[in-house]
Amino acid sequence: MDNRPIGLLDSGVGGLTVVKEVLRQLPNESTVFIGDQARLPYGTRQPEQIVRFTRQLVHFLQAQNVKMIVIACNTATATALPILKQELNIPIIGVIDSGSRAAVQVNKNQKIAVIATPATIKAHAYQQALLKLAPTAQIKGLATPEFVTMVERNQYQSSSSQEIVTQILQPLRTFSMDTLILGCTHFPLLGPLIQQAVGSNVHLIDAGAAAVQAVHTQLQQLNLAAVQPELIQHQYYTTGDPRQFEEIANDWLAPQHIHARHIDVEELKS
Ligand code: DGL
Repeated sequence: MDNRPIGLLDSGVGGLTVVKEVLRQLPNESTVFIGDQARLPYGTRQPEQIVRFTRQLVHFLQAQNVKMIVIACNTATATALPILKQELNIPIIGVIDSGSRAAVQVNKNQKIAVIATPATIKAHAYQQALLKLAPTAQIKGLATPEFVTMVERNQYQSSSSQEIVTQILQPLRTFSMDTLILGCTHFPLLGPLIQQAVGSNVHLIDAGAAAVQAVHTQLQQLNLAAVQPELIQHQYYTTGDPRQFEEIANDWLAPQHIHARHIDVEELKS
């Protein structure tokens, strides 16, 4: 057993969709989350930069004495996870393998679509993971970076947001998939709008939620699960504005009351 926290990271508030699942599925665990909002978006950056930023976040979490790290960001998983795995001596889990497994489990018509950031789509990470599991499946990827902006600006509840989401997902109309992977941890916040746009017969796969099952399995296998900790703590850091972070976090993680702390990007570099 190990009562130390699990560390989670993302470029912004999207990783909170994974934190939410940790709170739900692993209620004994403490967490430390960091969102790099000052340098968001990652999804339109070059791979070298994404690796460098992700490494800095990982080092920050290690300094908080976490027992395991979850890369709660598809972009960082696709680009940086294979490299960081070789550098680190603590367990580190991404979101793409679990998301792909969950998709293949429900998929019936051999057509799976993935919406993600441009960097994730370019890395072909889902393509590779899915074809290993389902070699005959047809996969269609669509980059939808606008969704990240909508979530970060807390615009996903405005009256025009349904129209925008439907418009952006238009290129998937003729593909007729029965499974759609939300390949960016920001996207579950738009879940109802995306479902409405693609129709109720399409399964939406929350890759982050699926990853928490893998976290659970690893905690058990490595004997790292927390056992009746006296104090369960959830800490939140952002390189951006903590008030803006709290607004979305309190809405998404209610009834939890979130207090976020600011950490300067310069501190991460040192
Ligand atoms: N939440 C991140 C992901 O899962 C992406 C957001 C960004 O572009 O920074 O890919």
